[in-house]
Amino acid sequence: MHSATIKEVLQGKQLLQEITVNGWVRSFRSNRFIALNDGSTLNTIQCVVDFEKFDENLLKQINTGAALKITGTLVESQGRGQSVEIKVNNIHVHGTADPETYPIQPKKHSLEFLREKAHLRIRTNTFAAVMRVRSALSFAIHQYFRDNGFYYFHAPIITGSDAEGAGEMFRVTTLDNKNPPLTKEGAVDYKKDFFGKETNLTVSGQLEAEAYAMALGKVYTFGPTFRAENSNTSRHLAEFWMIEPEMAFFNLDDNMDLAEDFIKNVILYILEHCTEDLEFLEKRLLEEEKSKPQTERSAMPLIEKLRFVAENNFKRVSYTEAIAILKNSKPNKKKKFQYPIEEWGTDLQSEHERYLVEKHFNCPVILFDYPAKIKAFYMRLNEDGKTVRAMDILFPGIGEIVGGSQREERLDVLKQKIADLGLDEKELWWYLDLRKFGTAEHSGFGLGFERLVLFSTGMGNIRDVIPFPRTPQNAEF
Ligand code: 4AD
Ligand code: MG
Repeated sequence: MHSATIKEVLQGKQLLQEITVNGWVRSFRSNRFIALNDGSTLNTIQCVVDFEKFDENLLKQINTGAALKITGTLVESQGRGQSVEIKVNNIHVHGTADPETYPIQPKKHSLEFLREKAHLRIRTNTFAAVMRVRSALSFAIHQYFRDNGFYYFHAPIITGSDAEGAGEMFRVTTLDNKNPPLTKEGAVDYKKDFFGKETNLTVSGQLEAEAYAMALGKVYTFGPTFRAENSNTSRHLAEFWMIEPEMAFFNLDDNMDLAEDFIKNVILYILEHCTEDLEFLEKRLLEEEKSKPQTERSAMPLIEKLRFVAENNFKRVSYTEAIAILKNSKPNKKKKFQYPIEEWGTDLQSEHERYLVEKHFNCPVILFDYPAKIKAFYMRLNEDGKTVRAMDILFPGIGEIVGGSQREERLDVLKQKIADLGLDEKELWWYLDLRKFGTAEHSGFGLGFERLVLFSTGMGNIRDVIPFPRTPQNAEF
């Protein structure tokens, strides 16, 4: 017999029919009520067991976490809390779960505890809701780009170039680390390595995406990226997913328009398609925030906040204006910032970004035209000779969610920039070719997928919005 998902069954269309469901036991009350969940929805189906009809040994196997196949008649529920329930005729135990050792019991577990059990935490409502929203967001992203004439492009994961020039990369090698081949000078001889050169896991697919945009027009990547930055924060992962659109014939304003429209669209998508999960996550957040001081609570409940972002314009401010605001701000004058703002040219820390977004403007902010010195080599130099056409999008509670720019399309200017930064022009020969053959204005950006999921679900730690997080000192599972 066809087994239905619990989501389908709960709609009640098969009322009075014999149905089969498969799932995991969330709880078994009074030897009579099984709450079964199969991941298709946040809700459980109540399965009512007439215990006199079933073997005692079978009933003993029905513990929280056990996998069951249940056949029975779908009937209107007698009790409160659900509209339909299953009057059980037959139970097959796929697999039991020992209550002494199964860690996910029907009670409140801390997120920290569940992080240690990442392979089982997905069986809780919170993680299942987060991961369903994550899945919906990723679908919405592909749909948005498809509807807007973009091609999905797959950037390589192993690369010889450091796109961001930050040197925070994971090396890929097959050399014997105890006894590597050496050059005459005594350095490791990467010519003898698998690829005949030094290679790393990519920090960004942008440089390759630029090559594709300069032929296909509009492309995007959506893949894993890797950064060996030793930042143990609630916003950083060593392995994270990034969406990187790259568009030929787009300037920085076009780029900002696209980024804003894109984010609003994917948020509207989950508001429409993930109502049940978002309502649950909103309640979870309100509950969690009860224990926090008033000043640390979010100003709006989750769904209202998502609507606010989707329906209001992001504020666009130049770096120079932002520095003026920060310099004159109360926390700066009262020396409350850990990194005081003293002069034009300093990089913004997350405390500054959050001040601008959460205290000053109270909405998402796009900062643009940053000092060239604090940004990557590929960004287009402005007429003033000291700022570049960069833009970062800052979000409440998150800080930077997007980093992007108009790219330097002028060969001579780009070469100068590479030389000034002490980068190796030879490594970037193919990237320079793009400026030799049919160069044109072009732009793109990178959206950190987990930061978007964090914002969308109201979770507080990036480790809780990716299935199996990789962070310093942690690559379990
Ligand atoms: O600002 P970033 O470094 O920009 C780039 O990599 C560009 N190549 C993108 C482009 O123009 N195509 O990173 C982009 C975004 C950040 O805004 C942030 O949301 C996210 O990626 N990000 C991280 N997310 C989680 N953990 C980390 N360690 C992250 N580093 C960056
Ligand atoms: Mg950035």
